[in-house]
Parts: sequence; C-alpha cells; structure tokens
Amino acid sequence: MKEDKRNDSAARALERAATYGRRFRRPDRPLHPSADAAELRQLFDVGLPDAGRGAVEVLDDLIAAAEPGLVGNTDPRFFAWVMGSSHPAGVAADWLTSIWGQNAGIFQTAPAAAIAEEVTAKWLLDLLDLPRASSVGFTTGATMAAFICLAAARGEVLRRAGHDFDANGLQGAPDLNVLISEDAHVSNFAALRYLGFGARNMTRLPADGQGVLDVPALGAALTANQGPRIIICQAGQINTGAFDRFEAIADLAAAHSAWLHVDGAFGLWARAVPELKALASGAERADSWAVDGHKWLQMPYDSGFAIVRDANAHRRAMDISASYLTESPGDGRNPTHYNPELSRRARGFAAWMMIQVLGRRGVAEIVRRHCACAALIADRCRAVEGIEVLNEVRLNQVVLAFHGNKGDIGPDTLTQRMADALNATGRFFLRTAQWKGRHVLRISVIANGTDRAIAEDLAEAIETSWRRLPKSEGRSQKAEEV
Ligand SMILES: Cc1ncc(COP(=O)(O)O)c(C=O)c1O
Repeated sequence: MKEDKRNDSAARALERAATYGRRFRRPDRPLHPSADAAELRQLFDVGLPDAGRGAVEVLDDLIAAAEPGLVGNTDPRFFAWVMGSSHPAGVAADWLTSIWGQNAGIFQTAPAAAIAEEVTAKWLLDLLDLPRASSVGFTTGATMAAFICLAAARGEVLRRAGHDFDANGLQGAPDLNVLISEDAHVSNFAALRYLGFGARNMTRLPADGQGVLDVPALGAALTANQGPRIIICQAGQINTGAFDRFEAIADLAAAHSAWLHVDGAFGLWARAVPELKALASGAERADSWAVDGHKWLQMPYDSGFAIVRDANAHRRAMDISASYLTESPGDGRNPTHYNPELSRRARGFAAWMMIQVLGRRGVAEIVRRHCACAALIADRCRAVEGIEVLNEVRLNQVVLAFHGNKGDIGPDTLTQRMADALNATGRFFLRTAQWKGRHVLRISVIANGTDRAIAEDLAEAIETSWRRLPKSEGRSQKAEEV
C-alpha cells in the first residue's frame, strides 16, 4: 500500500513539474540568481532523511531551494557566454526521453533511440554540409565531442605511423605533435589532457587580433615537426566568433598527412545559412568536427555531436563490445560504438525533434537573426565616443572595451563598471573576459528569443549606461549627464 502511495505521489510530481515548467518561462522571471553559494547550501542541505518523503512535497522543496539560484540563460536578454536557450520543443522531447527511460547504449537496449540517432546523424551532416559518410557520436557537448574526435585522430595517425595503439597504448608510440592556436577554446586542451597529451606534445601557434590561426606559422611548424600530427582549428572563436582559414589549413594538412580537426561548437552552424556558409568554407575538408546541439540548435542540456569522416577510425577509438551486449544481423547501429559511455541517455530524440520543429529554414533563420543582432549592437556601439568594438563582427559575438577621456580611470575598470551597471538594471545578463590582455565586455547573441527589438534595447542600455557612468574620479553622475 505504501509503495502505491509513493507511485501516486511520483506521478503527481510529474504533473506539478509540468505546471511549474509553464510558469518558469515567463519573461518577468529574474535573470540573476538572488542567493549566494552559502544561502543555496543552506536551502539544499535539509538533511538526509531516514524515511523517504512524498514526491510532491520534495518537488516543492526542490523548487524552493533551486529557484533563488537559477540563472536566466533561457531568456532572450541573456548575453553572457555562448549558450542556447533549451527550446520548449526540445524540452518536450527531453521529458519523453526521461519518461521512456531508455538506455541508449546498444541497439537492442533501445532500438528507437538508436534509429533516432542514425536518422538525425544523416540530417545533421546535411544541415552542416559535411561528408555524408561521416559517423556521428551523440554526446554531452563540444568538450566530449572534441575528446571523441581527437581519440579517433590519435589512433589513426599513430596507426598510419605503424604504431598499434590498441596493443601498446601511448607507450613506445612515436612522438605525436598537436598543432593548436593559442586562442583555441580551453576545452580542446582539456580533451587533449584526457587523451594523454601535455604541453610538450603541443605546438601552440600564434593567432591574429581576431584569434585567427596564423597559417604561415602552421606551415612552418608542420615542416619543422615530422611524424604523426593533428591540427586543431576553429569555426567561431569563443570571444570574437572568428573563423580560421580552412582552405589554406586543409591544403597544409593534406600536404603533411596531418589529421585536421575543427572545433565548431557554435560557429559550424554558419554552414547551415546560405549567406554565411562562406565563413566556414573549406571546413568540410577536415577529418573531424566537434559541434554543439545545446548552442545554436537550442537543444536542452546536454547535447554535442562528434563527427568523424573515417567511421572506422571513430569506431576503433570508441567501440565497447561484449558477448552480453547482444547484436543481431538486422540491428541498427550501436550508439556505444561512437561514444565513450555504455549506459547513456537517448540524446537522439531531442535532436530529432528540434531539427523537425525548426527545419532547414528555421535553423538558418535563428543563426541569421542572431548575427544581424550582433551587427546591430556593434554598429550602435561603434558610433558612441569612448566605446570600442574590438572584433570584426561576422557572427554572433561582440567584444567591447570602454575608454574615458581623462585617463584617471583605466579602461579595464570602466569596462567592469559598465558590465556591473548593465547587470544592475536586472534587464540583462552580461559577463566580461580577458581578450588580448584587455578586460572586455563580451556579448554573445544565441538565445532563441533574442531579436532585433531586444538587441536595440541592449544597445540603448549600453549607450545610456555609458553616458551616465562617471569616467573620471570625483565627477558625479550628474556631472556626466550634462
Ligand atoms: C568554441 C567552443 N569550443 C568548445 C566549447 C565547449 O563546449 P561544451 O561546453 O558544450 O562542452 C565551447 C563552449 O562554449 C566553445 O564555444
């Protein structure tokens, strides 16, 4: 009897969560968390109960504990970090994914999940216009996608150099050199570390003021370092949104038999937009690509795709097989051949849903709209004295720095004060970063709902806040306004 009660309560908790979910997306929801770490710790640390509690009651407690610590990253006025906004359609599929509770490790544990991934992989390759025979691993994000792609790269370049990685691991392997830009995303360095590569195994190459890899430096490094090599380049630099010169890099990779990997966590989606595709032209010549679903595809967390041209190299790196993981001749593909996890979430359902809901044109419209918003914000800021736009705005990123005319408050301080002033309005969520030795306000336009009106609103707020901000010690706010 007690068991039944628990199940009833759990079922009601689902309904309660659905009701809460509808309310949660309201635009008047605060963007910034209201509780700090200590307060959140207190709210969550309600003690370990001896006896279990009713699910509805616990759900209410969970909401009460979590809500003060929630960040408004699903809101169209969220511009900090490159994060998508968990489109409700993707969330709906994600709920079903949890309700169905499939373990998408192998085809036989979850046939629908395996085939959803198989079919969605085909659509992804089509949308991104990448080699159609590539294999796709559905994983947690671009970090793990890089890990998967670079594991395939490691095995394959060593195999070509006559080293059997499966038998020997890295011991006794020829020196493998990874050529990577100093402005590459940190997740690539993390993935390399997980794969057994340290700083001495890498050649860090210079990049220009936009974070674009120096191609002649790459050529020189390739000539200087013989042996197995992996080149990592990027579509969409995390601060500037810049793209590496893929055609020239692919020529070099081919001439030196190097594996070419593209980190395209968000920028690779430019390939889904006809008029932006040229930005990433030549990226299709790479051997592997890491791209996120939880950024421009607006999928709920977590979702990333590891795409590898040579499906055999991909599978050799990731394969998990055992006799109890049964396979039959008519099965679809086993997802676990392409991912590091065995038991895993059925990530294909939400990806399948989002691509169907948006369609080819919908994906392009989101990326196009966000790039236009970034251009608008940059244009408005450029016209204001004291505001400097540091990047060439071709994608969705705007990098701003602020200067006073007296010079007694340094530009880095003014930039931080601007970020604080904008955040203090409660209407926007923004963050700063260091870029080329400068403190910058970093604007990422990527939340699904962000449109021209909201971009204008942000540009207006930047102008107003800048006009009001004291730019010299001792001058009052009022004085600045006159
Ligand atoms: C260029 C780039 N690469 C890799 C990553 C890591 O992606 P994820 O956080 O999905 O693992 C990001 C995240 O913002 C990124 O912008």
